Amino acid sequence: MTLSRRVASPRVVCIEDLRPLARRRLPTAVFNYLDGGAEGEVTLRENCRAFEDLCFRPRHAVSFPACDLRTRILGFDLSVPFLLAPVGYSRLMNPAGEVAAARAAGLAGTAYILSTISGHRLEDVKAATSGPVFYQLYLMGGRPAAEDVIQRAKAAGFSALVVTIDTPLAGMRERDYRNGMKELISGGLWEKLPFLSQVLKRPGWLINFLQDGGLRPLPNVRVPGKGPMPLVDINAALASAAITWADLRWIRELWRGPLVVKGVLTGDDARRAVDEGAAAISVSNHGGRQLDCVSASVRALPEVVAAVKGQVEVWMDGGIRRGTDVVKAICLGARAVLCGRAYAYGLAAAGEAGVSRAIEILRADLERTLHLLGCPSLTKLDRSYVNVPASWQVT
Ligand code: GLV
Repeated sequence: MTLSRRVASPRVVCIEDLRPLARRRLPTAVFNYLDGGAEGEVTLRENCRAFEDLCFRPRHAVSFPACDLRTRILGFDLSVPFLLAPVGYSRLMNPAGEVAAARAAGLAGTAYILSTISGHRLEDVKAATSGPVFYQLYLMGGRPAAEDVIQRAKAAGFSALVVTIDTPLAGMRERDYRNGMKELISGGLWEKLPFLSQVLKRPGWLINFLQDGGLRPLPNVRVPGKGPMPLVDINAALASAAITWADLRWIRELWRGPLVVKGVLTGDDARRAVDEGAAAISVSNHGGRQLDCVSASVRALPEVVAAVKGQVEVWMDGGIRRGTDVVKAICLGARAVLCGRAYAYGLAAAGEAGVSRAIEILRADLERTLHLLGCPSLTKLDRSYVNVPASWQVT
């Protein structure tokens, strides 16, 4: 069976069904980079589990022919209330990587956020999609590299910058250490040797990877005069990615377009982001990959929504696996959500077809959920459609 037929098979009915297909396709280290979180992975699990604490309150005996799933973010109309999150090393998951994901997003009428740790040139990613594209900025390579990429993103037609503020350094992703992610990405042959068998066990992936040119530098991190930065593991990448509020101000001055602050978990940081000129905030714990044992994103959402008082758009990411998760986040006040692993499992399993399948699953989930809830339009969702535990209430 071809890969694209496999993701279309009737046995792939939810996002979780894409995960084992990704696992079978990828070397252990790459799969676990995508799948894993920091330390004991408490937050990674909690991001998904916390949605179970919210129960729906449906309105029955109502009928409408179709549901309106559209939302508007940063002035763009999206056909669905989710966009594709930045996912580092997407080109290692599939050679078409970021280009495939962006194209699938555009075809579905939604937006794509390109990670700094991307394998395709930002100009090529922009050209591949009919939808809006935003650039996620880390200060890898320092301010000179940031200046270069900001000018390029502007010239290429990127519509917003997404600045991630939860990375003073990388979280302790234990799976990456055990699997030799660092050695495989930046070690010499001798250092790679103990970890190579996992790669040899995935000949399909290996052939594609070699045909794609093997380990490539990061085309969107260019220190002027030095060319693209060589590929580095996540610890080395994030070691130089710390962002302070002062950096954010510097970035805003340079960019002069919409700025999204991603990685906010408290009302205090949310208000600070508003004061610093953010156009939107993404409530996020980086998919449980940074500080472990912080709140699930959806659990932090009410505090942030209350703190910003409607002054800016609130997005959230972390733990979205089903349309019901998206609906619950919208009921709590999110304008849209970002999906990361949900589409990246599809990308790893079958390239663009896999991303499209993930989007299709979430879209069908959303339509079904709104019908069963008795709510004809996403914009009509509010807290009256969910029971929120008393301990979540913001006083
Ligand atoms: C990339 O940003 C990561 O945290 O893995």
